Amino acid sequence: MQDRLGDIEKEALKGIIASKTKEELEGLRVKYLGRKGILTGVLKGLGNLPKEERPKVGRLANEIKARIERALKERLSGLSEQKGPRVIKGFDPTLPGRSLRLGHLHPITKVMNDVCKIFEGLGFSVAQGPEIELDFYNFEALNIPPDHPARDMQDTFYVDEKVLLRTHTSPIQVRTMEKMAPPIRIIAPGKVYRCDSDVTHTPMFHQVEGLMVDKDVSFSHLKAILTYFAQEIFERDTKVRFRPSFFPFTEPSAEIDIQCVICKGEGCRVCSQTGWLEVLGAGLVHPQVFRHVNIDPQVYSGFAFGLGIERIAMLKYGINDIRLFYDNDFRFLSQF
Ligand code: FA5
Repeated sequence: MQDRLGDIEKEALKGIIASKTKEELEGLRVKYLGRKGILTGVLKGLGNLPKEERPKVGRLANEIKARIERALKERLSGLSEQKGPRVIKGFDPTLPGRSLRLGHLHPITKVMNDVCKIFEGLGFSVAQGPEIELDFYNFEALNIPPDHPARDMQDTFYVDEKVLLRTHTSPIQVRTMEKMAPPIRIIAPGKVYRCDSDVTHTPMFHQVEGLMVDKDVSFSHLKAILTYFAQEIFERDTKVRFRPSFFPFTEPSAEIDIQCVICKGEGCRVCSQTGWLEVLGAGLVHPQVFRHVNIDPQVYSGFAFGLGIERIAMLKYGINDIRLFYDNDFRFLSQF
């Protein structure tokens, strides 16, 4: 009987090791340990053995049963690792993943970067200044004394009598010329603030200031650089218009318009039916501004300009309301 039990164990273990599926394994379990299984039959038949053999054979049969059970369990876990979805604490790594939304730059940041790149390519370096500015740099040093009517051109947010949120990037002209001797060639990108809101105006918007100071800098240099810029940022055949204007810190002064790309010059609500959209102000640096920073206007001349990034973005992407840029509506922003 003991030999027979040994053969049963060998045969069972061999079958278990060779099994390839859970179903096959279950078949082996039933074959040896099931209610009508081979080993179960031996255990049931113990009563037929001589009395003195029963404990020995019984113990051996139970040991073999335990070994077969352990082998079945180990093989089962081996098969589970190899096949089918692995469920680890409620996590199934074979399920398809949830795709992450990729972020991207805000259209205004993109246009700002593009604008800066064009001027950097022309040899301009980047300067910066504070958004909370002194009245002196924002107005007085730019030839706009207190009570000057030109202050009304820009509705200002004041912090106190002498401190304000800068209304333009032009104070950086002054701060740069205070620190640096000519030749100067800088651009100054940044946020500016005005109490203003409609389809082409927001209370916070972005400007890029440009300043070039050297001997013999003339209006034709300004015109060439701004025309080159407009044709780089828009199309080669973009129409640009220089319109005489007034800024207290430049003389002569001009405003530069780009033909409205939304209506192709026909007239629409964005360009107030004129066919043109103003994108920047410019001019030759006023001698009074040079005197404030101890640069001799008899020796040096220069030009300056300040362009509105949102207006350029409107034209570039055909946006008919500037406020869309700041509504933070994903349906709008995800188009860029
Ligand atoms: C100025 O801010 C001058 N500092 C520009 C300048 C610099 C002139 C250097 C001469 C020499 P102006 O207020 O026109 O100018 O603004 C310049 C540009 O900013 C405008 O052409 C327009 O494109 C944009 N802009 C002005 N106000 C707003 C606003 N509320 N929202 C969006 N863009 C604006």
